[in-house]
Amino acid sequence: IKEGHGVKGLSEMGLNHLPKRYVQPQSERSSSMQVLQDLSIPIIDMSKWDDPTVVKAICDAAEKWGFFQIINHGVPLETLENVKEATLAFFGLPPEEKRKYFKENSPSNHVRLSTSFIPEAENAMEWKDYLSLFYVSDDEALAIWPPACRDQLLDYMRKCEVVIKPLVQVLMKGLNIDVIDEKKWSLLTGSLRINLNYYPKCPKPELTVGVGRHSDVSTFTILLQDDIGGLYVRAPDGQSWVHVPPINGALVINMGDALQILSNGKYKSIEHRVIANATADRISIPLFINPKPSEVIGPLTEVLDNAGEKPKYKNVLYSDYTLHFYRKAHDGKDTLELA
Ligand code: SIN
Ligand code: FE2
Repeated sequence: IKEGHGVKGLSEMGLNHLPKRYVQPQSERSSSMQVLQDLSIPIIDMSKWDDPTVVKAICDAAEKWGFFQIINHGVPLETLENVKEATLAFFGLPPEEKRKYFKENSPSNHVRLSTSFIPEAENAMEWKDYLSLFYVSDDEALAIWPPACRDQLLDYMRKCEVVIKPLVQVLMKGLNIDVIDEKKWSLLTGSLRINLNYYPKCPKPELTVGVGRHSDVSTFTILLQDDIGGLYVRAPDGQSWVHVPPINGALVINMGDALQILSNGKYKSIEHRVIANATADRISIPLFINPKPSEVIGPLTEVLDNAGEKPKYKNVLYSDYTLHFYRKAHDGKDTLELA
């Protein structure tokens, strides 16, 4: 990306080979994945989200799969389309415009355009570019986020409240926590990050990855994907993989490490990955609902008391947890060892 145009630039040069630094070890290539064709993550209609059967469906999915898709969630289709368009508009900017947001040029570490995940720390790179935006306030976002996408993203984030609030309530209900005070809201949802992922067509997709195996460090993630496909999640057997098929208008929800820790392991933060593909550019937009960086995360006392369990995880300062995650290549669920 130093050259100015990231993997998108490489893709547009029409290379017919894959540069060596993107070649992944055999174990990480799609040919090594065992894919289950007749299993899929649950699809949950959120229109009656406080109905006991829906509450149960969500909590069961969070326990068993750590992943589900939601439909009739209340975020307008038009808003989703606008976010996807804004993402394409950002990545379509000329290199000299995008260059302003590279680490070395960006006015703030709250705005960062990168390629792969952490190139400094990776033996093999991932075939993607991404813009990562940490949200502090509307004012800051209006001042420093790229004008090509900031209004659409802020609008989307505001509209996602209708998903975030019910999900937090339902997931806490599943832990027998009925009252969520301000302290707990901030522990669970005190900071937001949104990423715009761009996976260009790849000359040799079978040799590389879009994103390597990882689990998210969030409380939970709301993922908007386009209609290309390529996201796979670890099946409940812990071995095979299951594709997450694009559904127009749906949002993918996945539990993150923070919630696995807070729930003392009841909700699962599941490994997932994205394959590269030869024929189409793909975009996805994850919105990470995170604990406040200054919060200490550990198994919630209510969970331990209600279930009479011993803590399975240590307490850890959330900013230390994320720092660790952002210092190394994607490597499955290894950040959890910190807790
Ligand atoms: C990610 O989990 O990092 C990206 C997911 C996706 O692109 O579908
Ligand atoms: Fe992820």
